Amino acid sequence: MRIDIVTIFPEFFEKALEIGPLKRAREKGLVEIRFFNPRDFADNPREVDDYPFGGGPGMVMKPEPLVRAIEAARGESGKVVLLSPAGERFTQKWAETFAHWPHLVLVCGRYKDVDDRVRAFVDMELSIGDYVLSGGEPAALVVLDAVVRLLPGAVGDRDSVTTDSFSRGILDAPYYTRPREFRGLKVPEVLLSGDHERIRLWRKKEALRRTLKRRPDLLEKAELDEEARKLLEEIRREEA
Ligand code: ADE
Repeated sequence: MRIDIVTIFPEFFEKALEIGPLKRAREKGLVEIRFFNPRDFADNPREVDDYPFGGGPGMVMKPEPLVRAIEAARGESGKVVLLSPAGERFTQKWAETFAHWPHLVLVCGRYKDVDDRVRAFVDMELSIGDYVLSGGEPAALVVLDAVVRLLPGAVGDRDSVTTDSFSRGILDAPYYTRPREFRGLKVPEVLLSGDHERIRLWRKKEALRRTLKRRPDLLEKAELDEEARKLLEEIRREEA
């Protein structure tokens, strides 16, 4: 897969690309990541922002350098995603969709906004949440990480990805490691039992319990199998 990032701050991503699944995926050739800096596509002087027509505070990203950078990145094959608080909400479903695209272009805006005409050159607009960042870079990094870890081989243990929170539409179960007792808090006995079937069922139930408690909205959309529905009934009775 190819992921291109259009940003005036490519250095923002440097360290992140040297760590964990992002590093592994690049080393294994699962993903090629390139940067396109609108400043390199600007006329002289290398300006990428300007005052807003109509006045008001803040600067606006000029359309020419940004669109030239987008076009250079997109080539024949790229799908272009503009990161913006006005976009559709980014979810695990979108991460899974993007992971199947051969060529994704992430566009980072800065300043007050991009010139609105830039939107004619993007395929979709994506927000990572209802808050305003200083630029699209942190959002692009979030998307990049969520997508790349889904590429087969990027995460050491493939199962780890398929059991993640949200991967089945609900939150994941709680996890424990050594020691068995920490400051009086014990690891649930079932996890020490070695009984794989009991452990599987316990995890499934606790994942559902956690989701019911913290994100009941997810349960409305999740596709639950017969076993999950029964466990949920049990939990509702227990918690009543
Ligand atoms: N740029 C600024 N805020 C953002 C957000 N919440 N999501 C995506 N891009 C952004």
